[in-house]
Amino acid sequence: MSRSALPTRVALVTGGIGGIGTEICRQLARAGRQVIALDLASREERVAAFRDEVAGFGGAIVFEPIDVSDFDSCRQAVERIGQRHGSVDILINAAGITRDASLRKMTPQQWHELMRVNLDGVFNMCRHVVEGMTARGFGRIVNISSVNGQTGQFGQTNYSAAKAGVHGFSMALARETARKGVTVNTVSPGYCDTPMVAAVPVDIRAQIIAGIPVGRLGAPADIARAVAFLAADDAGYITGANLPVNGGYFMSF
Ligand SMILES: NC(=O)c1ccc[n+]([C@@H]2O[C@H](COP(=O)([O-])OP(=O)(O)OC[C@H]3O[C@@H](n4cnc5c(N)ncnc54)[C@H](O)[C@@H]3O)[C@@H](O)[C@H]2O)c1
Repeated sequence: MSRSALPTRVALVTGGIGGIGTEICRQLARAGRQVIALDLASREERVAAFRDEVAGFGGAIVFEPIDVSDFDSCRQAVERIGQRHGSVDILINAAGITRDASLRKMTPQQWHELMRVNLDGVFNMCRHVVEGMTARGFGRIVNISSVNGQTGQFGQTNYSAAKAGVHGFSMALARETARKGVTVNTVSPGYCDTPMVAAVPVDIRAQIIAGIPVGRLGAPADIARAVAFLAADDAGYITGANLPVNGGYFMSF
């Protein structure tokens, strides 16, 4: 199908102004989608920079404020977007935070803050879009997990639990929606060349890279490519799957 013949689908990307989220927005817009980047309005400077970075896409990428940890904020955003752009066809949950500490030092606040964004956020968003998707007989949901949800990571009991939970959630929702044309999958990035990993000390970074068979960190474009693949109209037979994008860092069957 040529690009002009594709139906215009409305795609939401949470964490849409982040390192990986921005690239997901670009790739979905290039695939002809109307993209709404959802992120915290409190990141004013980043919102302004994002608007400059995607200006070339015209109105195909727009920003809307949200706090994914807040159920009502998600409901209001989905309603607002419905009125302005039409019903939601594609949802990418890429919002995420870290609150690292070994378990013996982890505070309940570090645990709960992370769960509210990384796991409740996925529930809050899916809960508000899934009914419309199943009623219309089409939907694509892609949740961003992490290799650390598959392997566990020192100092990340909260993050690893949430990211493993994201895949369990996705498999269960995939079963609930499979007969209604809605697919639900996860993408699990390995270590990516983003500010999060750039902050790691140089020697530890070198050790990480040495452990990646492909020999480099992932680029946001590598992750976005997998997301765009799963969000395509003709990806309807892939559901409940986890697509690892980690340069061979963790291989499983
Ligand atoms: N960078 C990596 O190496 C890596 C590896 C594996 C998985 N991931 C996952 O990929 C996703 C994107 O990560 P990234 O590297 O682009 O990080 P990032 O920090 O650049 O992007 C995350 C975005 O989420 C937003 N966000 C945080 N809390 C929010 C909230 N309450 N409501 C709305 N938005 C909120 C942030 O403002 C930010 O823009 C995350 O889920 C992360 O856990 C990243």
